[in-house]
Amino acid sequence: MAADPSSFSSPSCCRTYHLYLRCRVDFGARALRGTAAFTTRAEREALRRLVLDTREVQVFKVTVNGQDAEFGFGEKHSFKGTPLEITLPFELRRGQEAIVEVSFESSPKSSALQWFSPEQTSGKQHPLLFSQCQAAHCRAIFPCQDTPAVKLTYCAEISVPKELVALMSANREGELPDPEDSSRKIYQFSQNVPIPCYLIALVVGALESRKIGPRTLVWAEKDLVDKSAYEFAETEAMLKTAEDLAGPYVWGQYDLLVLPPTFPYGGMENPCLTFVTPTLLAGDRSLSNVIAHEISHSWTGNLVTNKNWQHFWLNEGHTVYLERRIQGRLFGEQFRHFQALGGWRELQHSINTLGDKNPLTNLIPNLNEVDPDDAFSSVPYEKGFALLFHLEQLLGGPDVFMGFLKAYIQQFAYKSIATEDWKDFLYSYFKDQVDVLDKVDWNSWFYAPGMPPAKPTYDMTLANACVALCERWVKAKESDLDSFSSEDLKEMSSHQLIEFMALLLLEPPLPLSHVQRMQQVYNFNAINNSEIRLRWLRLCLRSKWEEAVPLALKMATEQGRMKFTRPLFRDLYNFDKSRDLAVKTYLEHRASMHPVTSMLVGKDLNQNQ
Ligand code: BES
Ligand code: ZN
Repeated sequence: MAADPSSFSSPSCCRTYHLYLRCRVDFGARALRGTAAFTTRAEREALRRLVLDTREVQVFKVTVNGQDAEFGFGEKHSFKGTPLEITLPFELRRGQEAIVEVSFESSPKSSALQWFSPEQTSGKQHPLLFSQCQAAHCRAIFPCQDTPAVKLTYCAEISVPKELVALMSANREGELPDPEDSSRKIYQFSQNVPIPCYLIALVVGALESRKIGPRTLVWAEKDLVDKSAYEFAETEAMLKTAEDLAGPYVWGQYDLLVLPPTFPYGGMENPCLTFVTPTLLAGDRSLSNVIAHEISHSWTGNLVTNKNWQHFWLNEGHTVYLERRIQGRLFGEQFRHFQALGGWRELQHSINTLGDKNPLTNLIPNLNEVDPDDAFSSVPYEKGFALLFHLEQLLGGPDVFMGFLKAYIQQFAYKSIATEDWKDFLYSYFKDQVDVLDKVDWNSWFYAPGMPPAKPTYDMTLANACVALCERWVKAKESDLDSFSSEDLKEMSSHQLIEFMALLLLEPPLPLSHVQRMQQVYNFNAINNSEIRLRWLRLCLRSKWEEAVPLALKMATEQGRMKFTRPLFRDLYNFDKSRDLAVKTYLEHRASMHPVTSMLVGKDLNQNQ
C-alpha cells in the first residue's frame, strides 16, 4: 500500500481503531492537557514499534496495557511535524491488540486550535475555543495516526469551566460535575461510527441552541442564534433530499454550529455537528449551498473517505456533485446547470491564478513534500465535479449516474479509498458501457495540469443574463456608460449577480470609470452578501480604485474565511497604492487570526520569517 505522504504513521504495521480521549481545556494556559488512549491492533508479526504523528505537542508518559513504554521524538519536519516513536514493552503478534495511552499537552500555538479571550467573542463575557483538524492538524492537538487511511470510533470526556458548553463531532452523552474541580464540569461524547481523525472536532464557549428540525439544533453565541435559525431553515429538507439520493443518514443528529468570523472555511463537515462561518448569514438563505455541501459529506468524505490527501477530489468532487443534485431537486434542474457552469468558471479562475502548468492543478496532485494546506484550491472540487458531470452525460443522465453513486457509497462506506478503487468500481458498475468509458482520457483528467480534456454541456437559461451584462460592460466605451441603470439588475437573482461579477473577474480589469459608474448605478458598496461583496471589492481593486482599499481591508480583517481573506489581501498587495498597508494590516492582525489563515496569508504576502 502506498504510504500517506502527509503522515509519519504506518497503518500497514499497526492500526488504531478506537480512541478514548480525556482532557481538560485550560483557557489560562491555552492548552488541552490529558490522555489519549488508543486501542491498537498489530497488522503484522512481531510488532515492537508504533509511530504517531505530532506537531508541537508535549508528551509526558506513554503506557501500553498500563505498563510504561519508552518513547522518543524523531526529527522535526517542516510541515508534517515530529514523529513520536513508541517502543512497545512487549511484542504484538499479528491481529493482537493493546491499549496505548499517551499523556499529552497541546501548544498554545497549536495549528488546530483557535483560542479567544472574552473580549474577542461577540458576547464578551466568556472565552471560546474551536478546533479545525482537516487536513493534517489533529496531530497538533494530541499524538495520533494522522492519516485518513485510518478510521476510528471515539469516546471523550472534556472538562471545561462550568459556565461553558462543550460540543464535539459526536453524540452528546451527558455532563457531570468535575470531581477534581468544583468550578468545572465534564462533557461526555461518543462517536460510534468509525471516522478518520481529521473529523474529530471540539468547540467550547458560551453557546446556545435552537431546534430547527427533527434532528437539528443550530448552535451559536446568543446574538446569532435567531438569525442562524432563519438562515438554515432548509436543513431538514436538504437532509431528506440527500437521503433520497444517497441512502440513509447514519449519523443520528445533524447539528449546525456557527463559529466566530475567523473560522477559516465556509463549512466543515464534522460528523453530527457541521461547523460554518457566520459569513453565510446573508439574511435570505442564498448561501445555503454550503449546508447542502456539508450535508453531502455525510456520505462522500465521512462514509467513503479519501485514503490520503492526493485523492482529496474523491471527497470534494463527489460532495459538490451531491450538493448540486440536492439543489437541483429543491430549486430545479436549470439551477443545477447554472451552478455547474459557475463551477467550470471557478475552475478556469483557479487555473488562471495558479498557472495552467502548475502540478497542483492536477486532479491527483503529488503531495510528496507539499503541505496539503498549500495545495488547497478549487481544483479538486471543480475538476472533480466536472469529471462526474461529464460522466453523467456520457453514461445516460442524472438518474443512471445516481445509481452508480449510490452503489459506490454502499460499496465503500466505512472505508478509505484511492482513485483506482473508484475507477475500478466505475468500470464494474458500467460493465456494459466499457467502450464509452474507454473513450475518456483518464490520464489527462487525473494527471495533467490545466483545464480538463473535455467540457460537459450546460443549460444556459439562467447564465445568459449574466453573460450578456458582462459583455455589455466589457465592450462599453466611456460614451456608453450612460446606457447603464439600476434596471439592468432588476430581473437578476443574487446568484446571477455573483456570476456576473465572477465573469468580469475573468476579463482584463475594467477601466476605473466603468467601476465607478457601476457603483453609481448599482450601489454595490451597500451589499453585504459576502460572496457578492468579495467579488465587487476585487473588481474595484483590480481597476485600481483607491476608495475600495479601506473597504477591502475591513472585509479581509473583520472575517477570516480564507476564500475571502486570502484573495483580498493578495489583491491589496498587488495594488502598489495599498501594498504597504496590506502588509502592515496583516502584521497587526496576525496574532488574532486563525493559525492556518495567518500562515497562508503570511506566505501570500511574502512575510515568512
Ligand atoms: N471539508 C471542506 C473544508 C476543508 C477542506 C477544510 C480542506 C480543511 C481542508 C468543506 O467541506 C468545504 O469544502 N467547504 C467549502 C464549501 C463549499 C465548497 C460549498 C468552503 O469552505 O467554502
Ligand atoms: Zn467539502
